[in-house]
Amino acid sequence: MGIPHPIPYQGSKRKLAEIILRYIPDDTQRLIEPFAGSAAVSIAAAYHHKAHQFLLNDLNVPLMNLWNRIIHQPNDLAAGYQYLWERQHGQEKDYYAFVRDEFNRTRRPDYFLYLLARCVKAAVRYNAAGDFNQSADNRRKGSVPDTMRSHIVRTAELLLGKVALRDTDYREVLETAHSLDVVYLDPPYQGTSSGADGRYLAGLAHDEFVDTLKNLNQQGIAYILSYDGHTGTKKYGKSLPISLGLTKLVLNAGRSSQATLLGREAITYESLYLSPSLIARLDVSSQLYTPLSSLPLVSAL
Ligand SMILES: C[S@@+](CC[C@H](N)C(=O)[O-])C[C@H]1O[C@@H](n2cnc3c(N)ncnc32)[C@H](O)[C@@H]1O
Repeated sequence: MGIPHPIPYQGSKRKLAEIILRYIPDDTQRLIEPFAGSAAVSIAAAYHHKAHQFLLNDLNVPLMNLWNRIIHQPNDLAAGYQYLWERQHGQEKDYYAFVRDEFNRTRRPDYFLYLLARCVKAAVRYNAAGDFNQSADNRRKGSVPDTMRSHIVRTAELLLGKVALRDTDYREVLETAHSLDVVYLDPPYQGTSSGADGRYLAGLAHDEFVDTLKNLNQQGIAYILSYDGHTGTKKYGKSLPISLGLTKLVLNAGRSSQATLLGREAITYESLYLSPSLIARLDVSSQLYTPLSSLPLVSAL
């Protein structure tokens, strides 16, 4: 049945998760995702027994409430989703608007899941008042209830009793990291380089982020970072300082959906950075870790 993925989410690392897992050392006790989103890497790691414990954190409180429901009341959540999904038929547009209003009033996790399943690009958008204001993509009806139930229940089975959930700033959860943990960092999308002033990663201060990485290095905490990349000739993301001592891998993330819409065949390449402490923990002699020089798509920073 494959790896479950219950939360439709823009920026999900679902397609790259199994490649990223190759860089999680065998001695990993706990995998920490400070920018969890749909936690594609943690779910894949649980599926492949790559860590014993998991810590999922995201600043988006309704999202973490949804995670709490997935783990602790999966059948109840699946029933809530089914109820909404079945009632939308023949009135999809108006029903989405109704559920969105109800979500903004109640913040209920089942409403949030339905909105993510139906909204444009599965992209979370809030207005200044903190209300969810993303429009419906009326071509997306949302997963059929049986499929959604299967993803929810199988995710709960993988993570129940092994996962802690937090809804705070990424720096707070990093304070709890230990030497046998691995941190997977996937900060907010930085957009294409044109137009961005470079000081922020979609709301996150870049300099503070770099300082946090320096601190992790000093404490010997191993981390994997998804950061910049390019599609065709378009680059996105600011450079990271060489002094961080990161090893850069370039992963083929497949055809960009945006480029496909425009009739182009551009492939997106995403950078993955491995921290010095992580490299030290990987078994360089194993097949899992390919030396940099022998990988055509890999370059050192
Ligand atoms: C690119 S997404 C992560 C996607 C994830 N890897 C997945 O597979 O779905 C980045 C996430 O960071 C969260 N975020 C943004 N700023 C944050 C902060 N300061 N602390 C914690 N999470 C934050 C956003 O809510 C968003 O869910």
